[in-house]
This record gives sequence, C-alpha cells and structure tokens, in this order.
Amino acid sequence: MSSMSTTPAEKKYIVDAIRSLEARRVLEIGAFKGATTRAMSEAVPDGGYVVAIDPMEWGNELASNGIARHLPAFVHPLIEGLASWMPSTSYERQFWDEVHAGGRDNVHLFRVLSDDRELATSPSSLLVQFDLAFIDGDHSYCGALSDLETWGRRVRRGGLILVHDATVEFDGVVEAIEDFARDADVRVRRGVAGSLCELQVRSDLQADTPRRMPRGHAVRVEAEALVPVGWTRVPLP
Ligand SMILES: C[S@@+](CC[C@H](N)C(=O)[O-])C[C@H]1O[C@@H](n2cnc3c(N)ncnc32)[C@H](O)[C@@H]1O
Repeated sequence: MSSMSTTPAEKKYIVDAIRSLEARRVLEIGAFKGATTRAMSEAVPDGGYVVAIDPMEWGNELASNGIARHLPAFVHPLIEGLASWMPSTSYERQFWDEVHAGGRDNVHLFRVLSDDRELATSPSSLLVQFDLAFIDGDHSYCGALSDLETWGRRVRRGGLILVHDATVEFDGVVEAIEDFARDADVRVRRGVAGSLCELQVRSDLQADTPRRMPRGHAVRVEAEALVPVGWTRVPLP
C-alpha cells in the first residue's frame, strides 16, 4: 500500500530536480498536509514560489481518491456516503503548520479542485507557467489526465512534470500518462524514485493541439483566453 505522502526518496528526487533546474515556479496538485509542499518550498531559490492546489477538505479527501483509494473498492460507496455527511472539516491548519516550519514565505495555496474552471482561466501570473509540476491529486484516469492537460501543459520547455503513484495500484494514473504522452512531446521515465514518473517537456506543450477531454473536464486554456475571475486564495500570513 502506498503512503499518503511521498517517501523520503521521492522527496529527495523532487528536491534535487528543483535544484538542478533552478526551478522558481513550482506547482503541486494535491498538497494534503503539506509534507512535500514544505520540501519544495525549502528547495526553490530566493524569489521562487510554490503554488499548491488543494481544496483542503476532509470530505473531498475521503471521496476523491484520498483515503478511499487505499481501501478495497467495495467500501468506496460507504466512504462516499460518509464524506457527503461530513461537515467540511479541513486539514489546512496542519498544512500551514508544516509549511511554516520550513521557514520560507513562498507558498501560495489555491483552495479549490484542480479542475475548477475559474482557476483554470485565472489570469494570475502565478498560474500561467511553471518550471516543475508535481501531480498528486485526483488519481482517477479522468482526474490525472485533466491535470496533465490543464496544468502539465503549462510547464515550460525543458521543465519537468512529476506524477506520483504511477504504479499498477493506480492504473488510471498510468493510463493517463500513456495517453498524455501520445499527444505531448515529453520524454517519459517511469520509476525514477519510488512511484514517481518523470515527464521531461521537450517542446512547448502549450502550442500543441488541445485534446478533447472525457467527462467534460477542464481543457487547456490559451493565455489570451484568460479572463479575470475570483478564487479562494489564502493570503500568506
Ligand atoms: C495523496 S494526497 C497528496 C499528498 C501530498 N502531495 C504529499 O506528498 O504530502 C492527495 C491530495 O489531493 C487532494 N485532491 C484530490 N483531488 C484533487 C483535485 N482534483 N484537485 C486538487 N486536489 C485534489 C486530496 O484532498 C488530498 O489532499
């Protein structure tokens, strides 16, 4: 069974990648209690930042491939029922405690799901392009593919997309990577550390033809199509 967070070896790989790329614009989708966010926050150079996208709600965590995905499929309907009855309690306090313990003031949290339409079309300069993206949110095929299409395509040429849990246990994640790599000019290296799959961006992915997404998920957005919207952002304390 995989852990909720990254292993020490996976964290080291992510940190080393940030350092060797000198990545200043780092994205994490699915941050949970901030263990990997903190490691990334500590690794980015001065002037850099980490954008974390996560609804920070236990109800969502239970229902959306969080704890539920570590349990057998037959209990999933039970978990979903439980999640819908839960008050929207949050693990955000633990997230900030962990991140602040790292001592850097460079993390921006967007407290929404990664396929949120307003977020995807936000003109925020924090969201337009990244040097490295770490994807660890919705582990379904549609969710992982949506993250690769919407956010992975915002990684610059020469940058890296790292996907967690790319193992047989999460066949949706593996299939999403395969389908994405068919259309996008990326070099795929599986198992670079633990369950991490690395996609090295070889050419400008944003210039590629956008894919039609299943299930009406968010699609890649051209920079010129961005419109001003409001979104929930937790200001840095
Ligand atoms: C496995 S945990 C992430 C662990 C974290 N990356 C770490 O290394 O400590 C998955 C997280 O993704 C969040 N999540 C699930 N679906 C999501 C989505 N569509 N967008 C953003 N976050 C999502 C869950 O609420 C949970 O916090």
